[in-house]
Amino acid sequence: MKRMPMIAGNWKMFKTGPQAVDTAAQVSAACRDVTDVQIMIAPAFVSLPLVAATVKDTPVCVGAQNLHFEAQGAFTGEISADMLIAAGAEYVIIGHSERRQYFFETDEMVCRKISAALSGGLKPILCIGETETQRDRGETFLTLDKQVSDGLQGFGPEELQDLVLAYEPVWAIGTGKSASAQQVEEVHQYLRSLLEKQFSFDLAQAIRVLYGGSVKPENINELMRITDVDGALVGGASLDADTFTKIIKFDNTL
Ligand code: 13P
Repeated sequence: MKRMPMIAGNWKMFKTGPQAVDTAAQVSAACRDVTDVQIMIAPAFVSLPLVAATVKDTPVCVGAQNLHFEAQGAFTGEISADMLIAAGAEYVIIGHSERRQYFFETDEMVCRKISAALSGGLKPILCIGETETQRDRGETFLTLDKQVSDGLQGFGPEELQDLVLAYEPVWAIGTGKSASAQQVEEVHQYLRSLLEKQFSFDLAQAIRVLYGGSVKPENINELMRITDVDGALVGGASLDADTFTKIIKFDNTL
């Protein structure tokens, strides 16, 4: 089954509104003729409407980096799925390891967030990944298994057609140390078999599984050559328009 590759930029807590608009304008101009890759930028919440307006009618779409699991209410400082949709978001990143590590997000919260995203009409990008200690202890598959089964508990395959899974080994994020092609291949194969076991063969074939963690122009071709890799979630290297464009325009003739 052919899955449309996706290259997504997670801008984390970088760039003011004007800076985000500037970079988004450069990326969308450089990629205006790209038709075979889904391009997504996730800026800070306050920049979402600005970036959405900037990339309107270009191949670039916009995503948020987080959302709250309630539809509305007295939750000071939080943001809902409806608000993100109204701001122009199509995707939302859920359960990023930085949210899990610094903001104590649990698999149960992640599951509620996926539900809120889907009910609100957002496409969730569920992030999972093991820490260095978990890998060293041989607990990589166990960790991923728990994150997938608890994070997606209670959903049926028909609800998850738009789900994107992002494998981001925590030890590879922002370290310059990407996972090896062999490590990525092994995990992505495992994830697809997990999805098949938990849901269905068809869903497992339809879902895009992205890799994230020190992706750069120098390693994107090798990563995209791996059968079960359908794209990348890029942090640091997505902040610069030229570098991000090089990743988006990876060599897909291989
Ligand atoms: P880096 O590409 O900076 O390692 O970050 C990856 C990431 O966390 C994307 O969500």
